[in-house]
Amino acid sequence: MKIIEVNLKANSYKIYIEKNILEKISIYLKENHANKKIVIITDENLEKLYIETLNRYIQKENFNTRIISIKPGEKSKSIDTLKKLYEDFSDFKLTRGDLILTFGGGVVGDLGGFAASTYLRGVPYIQIPTSLLAQVDSSIGGKVAVDLPWGKNLVGSFYQPKAVFIDPELLKTLDKRFLHDGLAEVIKYGCIKDENILNTLMSYKDDEELLDNIEKIIYTCCNIKREVVEHDEKDLGERMILNFGHTLGHAVEEYFNYSKYTHGEAVAIGMVEITKRSEELNITKIGTHNFIEKVLKKYELPYKRVEMDKEKVLHTIKLDKKSSGENINLILLNKIGEVFIKKVATCEIENYI
Ligand code: GLY
Repeated sequence: MKIIEVNLKANSYKIYIEKNILEKISIYLKENHANKKIVIITDENLEKLYIETLNRYIQKENFNTRIISIKPGEKSKSIDTLKKLYEDFSDFKLTRGDLILTFGGGVVGDLGGFAASTYLRGVPYIQIPTSLLAQVDSSIGGKVAVDLPWGKNLVGSFYQPKAVFIDPELLKTLDKRFLHDGLAEVIKYGCIKDENILNTLMSYKDDEELLDNIEKIIYTCCNIKREVVEHDEKDLGERMILNFGHTLGHAVEEYFNYSKYTHGEAVAIGMVEITKRSEELNITKIGTHNFIEKVLKKYELPYKRVEMDKEKVLHTIKLDKKSSGENINLILLNKIGEVFIKKVATCEIENYI
């Protein structure tokens, strides 16, 4: 088993990475949350595939559990679904001493984590990410949120989980599109911190070889994220580098109503587009965007600019959380593996998109 300790003083926790780790989850629960009620939040697809088994593992220690299943997809990351979760918590008589367990991808983790952070001013929670995207990014670092009709993640908080359990075996039932969706975030880590990640991805023959080695990749990405989050838990500085490709990426996702592109696909377009522009502006080493494109292409991720109304895109970008007053913090590369934050006047943002 690989263990990463995220050191955040009173909010420290461990990330456990191992194939079939869920079989042993009751040991951890008994040691750390004995006699607590447990709410398991998941989505309807995962419920069919895994919840009976997961519940059986948990029930080895006779916990009183309640399963709450939401509709899959970004549309569920809403205030309406949040309210339904609160109703169920209340019906189950969940207290601040009990436990919430989020079993799902980014939507379940963000929504469930936000519900945990706000219900009764905070109920402890554990993340069990089931998608690659959630395993390498969204389940770690405590960013939890719901969307508003006019923007993604606009209501949220920083609320660290008590632990993160990552079982790479869960990726075997993931659709190829969603495996590759998560790879976009893996590629992001390579772009900002570690060229080796990209070279390794280029060396794999196919998805089978990728999956054979995924535990190591997940560990490397989680470790990069750990380091960044330890330096800047509240996203006031260094942590913003994790948003490389996300400024345009979020705008692309929203422009197409979260239906045409997955998060990773939109970020893929965003990474290439911003790097192409920063090369033209002599900021980034020439050829950098071509290399990113090559890796994205290998994993069938989009990288070409899409037709969008510029004014609408600019409006979304100005609402982005990386925007502060008259400025927006753009994440740019000097070259692969070397990232920096550039504060750009909001009125100049069109030069970069
Ligand atoms: N996904 C970006 C962050 O956690 O800061």
